[in-house]
Amino acid sequence: MVDITVAARGCFFLEICCAAMVVCRPSPDYCVFQKNRLKCDEHLPHITYPSNITHLELVNLNWEQLDLNRLLEKFPKLEELRVIGRNIVNVIPPENRTNIKVFELKRLLITNISSDFLKNFPNIEVLNLEGNCLEALDKHFYLGNLRELYLQRNRWKCSNDLEWVLNLNSSIVKDSDELVCHGMPHTGKPLIAIAQYLKEIKDQCTEKCDCSLPNVVRDPKTDLLEPIILVNCSYKDFTELPSQIPDMTKILHLEGNSIENLKPLRSNPIYRSLMDLYLDNNQVTSIGALEGSYWLTHFRAFSLRGNKLTKIPAYALDNALEKNSNMPNAVRLFLGGNPWRCDCVFTPVFQELLQKYAPQIKDIRDIKCSYVQGDQNSLVPISEISRSSVCRFPTEYSAQEALDLLNAVLAFLIVFILSKLAYDYYNFKKTGKLPWIITKMP
Ligand SMILES: *[C@@H]1O[C@H](CO)[C@@H](O)[C@H](O)[C@H]1NC(C)=O
Ligand SMILES: *[C@@H]1O[C@H](CO)[C@@H](O)[C@H](O)[C@H]1NC(C)=O
Ligand SMILES: *[C@@H]1O[C@H](CO)[C@@H](O)[C@H](O)[C@H]1NC(C)=O
Ligand SMILES: *[C@@H]1O[C@H](CO)[C@@H](O)[C@H](O)[C@H]1NC(C)=O
Ligand SMILES: *[C@@H]1O[C@H](CO)[C@@H](O)[C@H](O)[C@H]1NC(C)=O
Repeated sequence: MVDITVAARGCFFLEICCAAMVVCRPSPDYCVFQKNRLKCDEHLPHITYPSNITHLELVNLNWEQLDLNRLLEKFPKLEELRVIGRNIVNVIPPENRTNIKVFELKRLLITNISSDFLKNFPNIEVLNLEGNCLEALDKHFYLGNLRELYLQRNRWKCSNDLEWVLNLNSSIVKDSDELVCHGMPHTGKPLIAIAQYLKEIKDQCTEKCDCSLPNVVRDPKTDLLEPIILVNCSYKDFTELPSQIPDMTKILHLEGNSIENLKPLRSNPIYRSLMDLYLDNNQVTSIGALEGSYWLTHFRAFSLRGNKLTKIPAYALDNALEKNSNMPNAVRLFLGGNPWRCDCVFTPVFQELLQKYAPQIKDIRDIKCSYVQGDQNSLVPISEISRSSVCRFPTEYSAQEALDLLNAVLAFLIVFILSKLAYDYYNFKKTGKLPWIITKMP
């Protein structure tokens, strides 16, 4: 009999043997006995073996439960017990003390080991639990005198608290490099490293905020693990950028606060590793403080939706984006829902910026002129308005035209005077005649 729920969790992959029952049929000679050692395949012997057996190995057992009390009744002198494969879900620990030194429970379906499992194993030295369905050990798991513990190929769950991992004595866990998380979000990632990151993040988390580890990536160049730390401080009444976030935070959510000042983003070194910053629905009126900052040339996502921006230093932003190390594919910028000023001075430059960075500015149609009653551009997407509609006021227009005219006149005069000079010089060389104006001068 097999526990259906365990079967549904797919633990059978551990024992391919079960799919080919023919191969596993008990043969008449399923036990091998040699001195004080006994090895049996699939069944315990019906005949009685001497009770002084010290080494017992049972393979391919088709039991659901292993009661060590019953086994030790038959073999009270056991020092080494190996149970390898396949259906055991539950192990009942001994009620009385045993002499067992080496205990292997490999490739079974064990889902749970109680914290005092080793209570009656005063001589235990080696415990091997590899290839089971364990999701976690108890954080107070009693190790007794254990010298070696093997835990690989279980179903260690990394969405839970991993305090138990850090509580284990690392010099005892002999296969610690092989321990990996099972299931989302960290499938296949090293268990111990994840446990350490989670602890650091928890210890360093900003007050009032949630800190999490949505991912851990391996840098292809250095082969080092890099934690992706997300800090969520949205809707927590922040009036300033937090002065403390966990080291190496990559993603920071600050939506729905009352932040106005962006200076710390430039001055506080904790923001150096930040890549994505979400400041939607705050009180930011200017990003002038970020001109020439490390942030503008290194960010990946920057969202300023729903703030109080009326204009931005377009040339400085253009310059920074050109240098941004995540350009062009990874950069995402959000500027919609701000009261943008639409006038002949700012809008044409801003339009050029929007056009140039259209692939990066993800909410371009939400970038609109602020509401002005009776203005034809009120709440119109800036990328769609014509230049003449922002530069239509006669005073602005004629001043521009007059300047253009003056420039043309001055250019003409310069050319005229230079040509006249050249002509006079040539004429003087050839004929010796001074220009007419010189002859008239006193
Ligand atoms: C185990 O007991 C049997 C008799 O029951 C004896 O012949 C044998 O020598 C014993 N073995 C050991 C290792 O003590
Ligand atoms: C434990 O030891 C006591 C005393 O020796 C004995 O009566 C009892 O049956 C043992 N229990 C088991 C489960 O072997
Ligand atoms: C594991 O076993 C212990 C005690 O036997 C029990 O308290 C706990 O709830 C079990 N955990 C799971 C996940 O079954
Ligand atoms: C870890 O285990 C080693 C070897 O068994 C032992 O010497 C050491 O004291 C243990 N450390 C802790 C913190 O228990
Ligand atoms: C951040 O927290 C808020 C509520 O506190 C939640 O609505 C939002 O989905 C969270 N964002 C992320 C990215 O986890």
